[in-house]
Amino acid sequence: MAAPRILIIGPPGAGKGTQSSNLVSEYGIDHITTGDALRANKDMDLSHLDTDRDTPRAYMEAGDLVPDEVVNEIVDTALSNADGFVLDGYPRNTDQAEELESMTGLDVILSLSVSREELIDRLTGRRVCDDCGENYHVEFDQPETEGVCDECGGELIQRDDDTRDAVENRLDVFDEETQPVIDHYEGRDEFVAIDGEGTPADVWTEIKSTVDEHTN
Ligand code: AP5
Repeated sequence: MAAPRILIIGPPGAGKGTQSSNLVSEYGIDHITTGDALRANKDMDLSHLDTDRDTPRAYMEAGDLVPDEVVNEIVDTALSNADGFVLDGYPRNTDQAEELESMTGLDVILSLSVSREELIDRLTGRRVCDDCGENYHVEFDQPETEGVCDECGGELIQRDDDTRDAVENRLDVFDEETQPVIDHYEGRDEFVAIDGEGTPADVWTEIKSTVDEHTN
């Protein structure tokens, strides 16, 4: 069996990163995530491009999309080095979806859905390890020692875009820009809608059986 080519799509906080980690462990594929790539290059100079703002940071902190030309290149390079992947955070608008068609085919498209209220709770309460990136939640998934990562002892911080205002804007941007991409994929044989409101373990059980069905 060839290594699976998986797209995971859904609103901010739907669990794309959480479930991508499971997919990477289970299938030994690459995790291609534009969000992590951009966070690692937040202060990249964009002034040579015809953009409104000079760095990815300026877009991300407001919860707006970083310009397509920046993310298209990140994904193109990552895909050309991957043998099987889970693509997380891209495409986020219909132009990016068109660009992706020219880069690769997909075996399965997992569309996670979660209510807006639950997404706001998950994101505003999320804390992440500044060193290893592990996720926690102030109520639902607390570390053993407050503010300290169980995995590596790193400091737990709130992402700049997990403030209430930025989260509301990210959800609005999702409705306007990314929902049309999901509408465009719906109806394809590879498309599967997944209920993202169950426990992480329940969501993973559904995802695993879906991927196995589409790739065996
Ligand atoms: P990105 O990093 O992609 O963020 P996002 O899509 O907003 O998604 P998140 O990482 O916030 O959430 P997630 O769905 O991965 O959920 P997670 O598993 O962490 O993008 C950030 C920014 O970068 C964008 O706003 C934009 O500016 C820029 N950008 C990125 N890609 C771009 C692109 N293609 N074009 C232009 N700009 C781009 O889970 C969230 C929380 O919920 C965690 O605390 C977790 O523990 C918890 N949780 C997960 N699953 C469950 C569950 N089943 N039940 C209860 N809690 C759960």
